[in-house]
Amino acid sequence: MSDLVKLTYQDQTFEFPLIEGSENEVGIDIKTLRAKTGLITFDPGYKNTGSCKSSITFLDGEEGILRYRGYSIEDLCEKASFIDVAFLLIFGELPTKKELELFNKEIRQDSIVDEDLKSILKSFPKAAHPMGVLSSLTSALIAFNPNSVDVDSDQDMREAIIMLMAKFPILVSWTHRKVKGLPLNYANTSLSYVENIAHMMFKRPHQDFTASPVLVNALNKLLILHADHEQNCSTSTVRIVGSSHAGLFASVSAGISALWGPLHGGANQAVIEMLEAIKADGGDTKKYMAKAKDKNDPFRLMGFGHRVYKNFDPRARIIKKAADEVLQELEITDPILQIAKDLEQEALNDQYFIDRKLYPNVDFYSGIIYRALGIPTEMFTVMFALGRLPGWIAQWLEMRKNNEPIGRPRQIYDGKTLRNI
Ligand code: CMC
Repeated sequence: MSDLVKLTYQDQTFEFPLIEGSENEVGIDIKTLRAKTGLITFDPGYKNTGSCKSSITFLDGEEGILRYRGYSIEDLCEKASFIDVAFLLIFGELPTKKELELFNKEIRQDSIVDEDLKSILKSFPKAAHPMGVLSSLTSALIAFNPNSVDVDSDQDMREAIIMLMAKFPILVSWTHRKVKGLPLNYANTSLSYVENIAHMMFKRPHQDFTASPVLVNALNKLLILHADHEQNCSTSTVRIVGSSHAGLFASVSAGISALWGPLHGGANQAVIEMLEAIKADGGDTKKYMAKAKDKNDPFRLMGFGHRVYKNFDPRARIIKKAADEVLQELEITDPILQIAKDLEQEALNDQYFIDRKLYPNVDFYSGIIYRALGIPTEMFTVMFALGRLPGWIAQWLEMRKNNEPIGRPRQIYDGKTLRNI
């Protein structure tokens, strides 16, 4: 195979090198395109554009493969904890016992936020969406930790990473406790990372709390499955914000806002709301299937389809099994689960969905687990953000270490040409 691609334009031929990844993905390196030809590429939604080289996550949408640093998501969900996976994503290898002890120790030391953050949280209306609150609190961390912004210092970057891994679960738990009207609490540093998350979210002031193994196991799996997904909308946001040398907290705060939308992380909330609406409307799944296929109706089947997975979403497979286990162990019969199963079956056998390769994605089943665990619907996307944190951090760090240039796409201008007033 030639390692050059030829482009002919206005009777001239230009050559561009091919670039090949370790899993044989091949791209055309067009870095010199505009300088050589005066042309730019046009690719709305970046459907064909590789924005960076990355050695963090490998995803094959046709084969339904997802791997972090070479380890399959199935293997990691069986054998690793969320904190192992966070270390793996950020630093490149699974931690040794000693490395993990140090990582946990550093996180525990930083598991505190400035008391004044409480007054910021208090000033939000109770009905504020937790994703907006989380994004604001994450951004507010900058004001309380100004040192974290020196992106040219390795030491500062590591400290910022530890700080965010330590403080983010507190912010998540506080947004949850605000929704629930519970007093704000702090980390219990004698617990594992995930047990502590459960403790901070669910501990009631008048009761003892020990997270059940079902809860810890389900949370570990959910967080691992959400931990990274290469160059998706929120991760690309984190990288592009960070490319201006904005700090880690600012970049992640922007990523949270990007994740919020219903076409991205917000889909897990939208799925449950859709299933509730179908139930309230008599449970007629066929009616909603018809709406999803009607081009004059903006309704989409939430939790179906994916930009990259065109066979199945491997995360959905694991999460579906976990959802069944959680419901069985907690002896919960959730009527919307039947609606979800009916919709899934109908969609999988429907020509419209088959032709467009639309399959259930990770969000189709994650909401059912969160519901069973007693997490309010509007908190679902916050849980996604909690899982995605190590991925955002790893991608931000890689972008900084590779010294990537500032992200700044071009455009094809199609507005008015020069005119007089
Ligand atoms: N219901 C009905 N039709 C759909 C759906 C859906 N959920 N998703 C895509 N289509 C149709 C779409 O109308 C289009 O049809 P046509 O070719 O006739 O115009 C075709 O399938 C291709 O859709 P697209 O919008 O061009 O595909 P995309 O890659 O731009 O969008 C998506 C991917 C995830 C935004 C989209 O499938 C969607 O809106 N799904 C519902 C929201 C959702 O579940 N999002 C969570 C994604 S997984 C979590 C994450 O990683 O963010």
